[in-house]
Amino acid sequence: MLYGNEILRDFYLGKTTEEDLRRREKQVRNTAQEYAKANTVEEYQAASLIRNGAYSYSEFQELGLYAPQGFFEKTIDFSPASMPLMPQTLSPFFGKCISELAMMLYLSDSDRATDVTFMGIGAGRGFLDHDLIDHLMTVKMNPEWEDEVNRLRRTSEFLVTDRTDRSQTLLEEELTDVIQTHQLRDRLKIMRVDATGFELERKPYGIVYGNEILDNMPVEPIIKIDEVLYGVVVVPYAEVMEIADEESDYKRAVGERFPELKGRTLSKDEARRLIEAGTMGLIKFKPVLIPLHSLPDLGEKVENSSAAQSNLKNPDYEDLYPLQAGLTPMLRSIRKSFSHGIIILIDYHPVHGNTHNWNQAVSSVLNFSLKDPHDLDFQIDFDQVKEEASREEMEVRYFSPQNETLRTFSSILNTLTLKDMQRWAKANGYGNLTSAQLPTAIKNGYSIFLPFSNFHNIICLSF
Ligand SMILES: C[S@@+](CC[C@H](N)C(=O)[O-])C[C@H]1O[C@@H](n2cnc3c(N)ncnc32)[C@H](O)[C@@H]1O
Repeated sequence: MLYGNEILRDFYLGKTTEEDLRRREKQVRNTAQEYAKANTVEEYQAASLIRNGAYSYSEFQELGLYAPQGFFEKTIDFSPASMPLMPQTLSPFFGKCISELAMMLYLSDSDRATDVTFMGIGAGRGFLDHDLIDHLMTVKMNPEWEDEVNRLRRTSEFLVTDRTDRSQTLLEEELTDVIQTHQLRDRLKIMRVDATGFELERKPYGIVYGNEILDNMPVEPIIKIDEVLYGVVVVPYAEVMEIADEESDYKRAVGERFPELKGRTLSKDEARRLIEAGTMGLIKFKPVLIPLHSLPDLGEKVENSSAAQSNLKNPDYEDLYPLQAGLTPMLRSIRKSFSHGIIILIDYHPVHGNTHNWNQAVSSVLNFSLKDPHDLDFQIDFDQVKEEASREEMEVRYFSPQNETLRTFSSILNTLTLKDMQRWAKANGYGNLTSAQLPTAIKNGYSIFLPFSNFHNIICLSF
């Protein structure tokens, strides 16, 4: 099964035409929509039993992405071939732009304190952190900012964080040269932090930033079919018959509604035992749609979200709304840890008839395997980010399509040094290019990946 983003990537790599891109996207979305219609559980008691026994969608994401066998712990090392992300493909230009943006927003904040902590969240391998910090520590920015930037260079603390164990090792590798070059050993810490639940010793001012972290945080997809709203739960089952042992009301309810799963439905405990025994390849996953009136907690959240209410009516969302579950806990954690600050979040929003999200909510669950896990991410709704920020008494200080922000700082492209080009080459697996080859290579690389900026937004909240 193709994923929305892979189709898009093929298009930008010139492997497919625009017409073909639209045709394939529509096909993926139609297939997912047909599946959704055919896999609802309408009867109240069966729906309650199934939702109590199965994974919620966000629990399934948690397992698939962050369990020891999950995508971010096991599969992904952010090497050039594994997951092309803007901070890497546009390195160091991207990090430099975000560094300048952060300065611009910090210096125009009337609540700013002089004691500043930069905090990268969901840092992955730390491409953004590397380039943002290196730019701040090295490059002459706007002359009017000179005194303040010099002070920040001398005094700022840097925290670079991610929730996975794997990232801790990758971050150590990626950030070593920045730490050494700028003598930051005592001021830069790499930490394991879950952005949705942390509390640091309270600091006066934080400049918190994260690229593509929101889309890998827990989501509950809300699907509308014939004006009825549904949540998605995920039933684990055994690939081969008769692995599942004890019967339960939950399993009976699944088997009655979906006869193909009779005798194969797994409880969450059984799934866990198979995973612990190393036989996780036997587990398959089936997304099932449960009416929101059988999911009262989720129903209440949807009711209280005006972003969800209005975007479920917005044709761009094609009747699927990605309700973010981690956003408010993340904003609260940041608030607890800093008296004031700004939060810069960069992520992608639904595009091309929400194909990607339809695909993630349905198709990519059907072919998910913990033996070879893939990404489970949702293009996010910035209206929800704004709404939840306002509930937490945060102000939207900046909101822009990413391509416009990069355009604002495009003069940086004329200042790239040989060292910058070598940095790009190293980050993208072209370490063997000669100095003479680098300018053309980086220009070509940037021209392939810059168009992806069309699908990203940048938001800055202040508090
Ligand atoms: C798509 S990657 C982006 C990595 C990096 N920001 C970049 O752009 O190169 C998403 C990262 O967010 C991290 N992440 C997701 N949820 C998180 C959370 N609640 N707390 C901390 N990190 C999280 C994942 O572990 C992963 O490294």
